Amino acid sequence: MPPQNSVDSSREEFPEERNSVLDVGTGSGHSIDCAARLGAGEVLGLDIDAEAVRNARENVERNNVSEVVRSEKEGSGRFWKGLSLVVANIDFKNLRRMRWSLTRRLKSKGILILSGILREVEEKFSRYYLDHGLLNSIRTDQEEEWVCLTLKRK
Ligand SMILES: C[S@@+](CC[C@H](N)C(=O)[O-])C[C@H]1O[C@@H](n2cnc3c(N)ncnc32)[C@H](O)[C@@H]1O
Repeated sequence: MPPQNSVDSSREEFPEERNSVLDVGTGSGHSIDCAARLGAGEVLGLDIDAEAVRNARENVERNNVSEVVRSEKEGSGRFWKGLSLVVANIDFKNLRRMRWSLTRRLKSKGILILSGILREVEEKFSRYYLDHGLLNSIRTDQEEEWVCLTLKRK
């Protein structure tokens, strides 16, 4: 199992208050809940699984800054650009595929936290994310065979 998404463990990097946060692969909504508690202004959870979306909506119901959607098309336009924090805890193949789509949504100095990466592919994977020159690596966390990368947009 990949480690829990790392909003909780990334307090130091958590951007200033009233930021906008996108959580890709939100699952039960744990990360959007953490982000809201840490002072995020707008938080959007995205998950392709209808049941996960339902669960996350229930779990964050009490939190009126959060929205959870199943696809990007459902998400309101304001969420898709200039984000302070993007968190993604999905499978490695999709993380690779979404490199540009996740990176371009960050504002300058915005943080990208990627987890669900196996240690054995971490070096190659992280080079792939850094290759286009828009991100710096600021932190790498490891939990058993899983790695979580924290990157910052220049
Ligand atoms: C490992 S869980 C992460 C749950 C939660 N973010 C956490 O850290 O506890 C991965 C979730 O990503 C969703 N998912 C997988 N591929 C996705 C994609 N391409 N876009 C959005 N969600 C995706 C799955 O349905 C699942 O709920």
